Order: sequence, then structure tokens, then C-alpha cells
Amino acid sequence: MVADARAFAAAGVEIVGDALARSPEPRVCFATGETPKPLYAALVAAQANGTIDLKRIRAWLLDEYFPMTASNPRSFRAFMHAHLFDPIGLAAGRVDSLDGSAGDPDAECARYEASISGAGGFDLCFLGIGLNGHIAFNESGSGAATRARRVVLSERTRRANAHEFPSLDAVPREALTVGVGTILERSRSIVLMARGSNKAEVLARTLFEAETDALPASHLQGFRGTFTVLADEAAAALIPNL
Ligand code: PGA
Repeated sequence: MVADARAFAAAGVEIVGDALARSPEPRVCFATGETPKPLYAALVAAQANGTIDLKRIRAWLLDEYFPMTASNPRSFRAFMHAHLFDPIGLAAGRVDSLDGSAGDPDAECARYEASISGAGGFDLCFLGIGLNGHIAFNESGSGAATRARRVVLSERTRRANAHEFPSLDAVPREALTVGVGTILERSRSIVLMARGSNKAEVLARTLFEAETDALPASHLQGFRGTFTVLADEAAAALIPNL
């Protein structure tokens, strides 16, 4: 547990630094959303002052709205370019993401699975958590073996993301996402990030309630690699014995 956004970001930078120390070309999967913003700002600062060389990473994204063009400023691809990839000067060829404008979304999801497995999976996968326990856009009902696919977003998720759009109605109703199985089976190391008191209940349930498709994040209990929870005090408030 970390005290605040600053400590949260510092701990995340250290984790990325470890991945860079271990591999000349670490493969990292990044989450979008409010939660990782301080981390991405700190990574940009670390790159600017020369402490780390983020241009060596290869990057993937967890998910994307559907339909959505990458050039739309509300796309997750655009979010990652604005908050991390462009400021660190990451070459475009080192980034892959699900194309929310694909004419054949099923083929696009199959392509993405092959991109991830063909590269050897993720050395490091950053995840946020939804208020309903989603990871990536794996909403309630997503099983531990699910793969990249087209999904319908829950009303709760659409409401949580509505602040990025002119109205709730403008929030896309569908998305393309990696599956829970993609995350569990293709990641060597996972960092589950949570900040703020509104995440306290779902984080505690994720870690301590029985694993269930109703709360997809709970499938992280079955992860066999290195698992880190990066939570601030408010999000960790209901976790005993910290
Ligand atoms: P948030 O989103 O970081 O904006 O809270 C997390 C998520 O929905 O996975």
C-alpha cells in the first residue's frame, strides 16, 4: 500500500524500471483510465530527466471502445499516446492495440491474440479495476478462460466513463477487449492498480471473496505469476492487516 498518488506513481515507476533492467525490450501492457494517470506522468518525467529509457519498451493496450477510430481523441489509443507514448517518444511501430474501427472485429481480436502470443506475452501487465470488478473490459460474467473478443459494456461502466464524452448517450455501447484468460496466461507479472475510496469495496472483494465470473477481477486469485496490488490508502482501506 502507498500513501498517495505521488507514492503510487513512484512505486509504479520502480516496477517499470525493474522490467527495463531485466530485459532489453520489455513487453508491457498498459491500462487507460483515471487510475494510472499519475504513473504515466511520473514515467514521462523519468524519461525526460534520463533516469529510465522507456523507448526500449514494446507496448500493448488492454482494450478499446467499439466502434471507435484510433484518431478519435476519446479512443484509448489516443489516451495512451497523449499521456505516455508521445511524450516519451515511443516509436509507433512499438505499439499495438485493438482496432476499434475494424470491419471484422472477430478477426481483429484473433489478430491481437496472435500479436501478444507471437511476441512471447507480456513481461508486465498493468490493470485498473472497474467499480463492478471488471478488468480490461471483461464485465461481470467473464470467465477465467476468455480471450480477446467483442463485448457489450454495462450501464455502470458506461456511466463511470461518461465524463470523457459529451453525454452518457455518446458513450459507445460495445468494446473490444483482451480476455481474462489472455491476461492470466500471457502475463509474467501483473500489477493491479486502484486509487480512491470508491475502489475500496471492490478491491477487498476481488482479493478475499471466492473467485467468481460475477467479479472477473477475482480470477486474478488464480494467477500463477508475480502479482502486485498497487493501491493508495483510500483504496486499500478495507484490506485487513496492512
Ligand atoms: P478508472 O477505470 O481508472 O478510470 O477508475 C478503471 C477501469 O474501469 O478499469
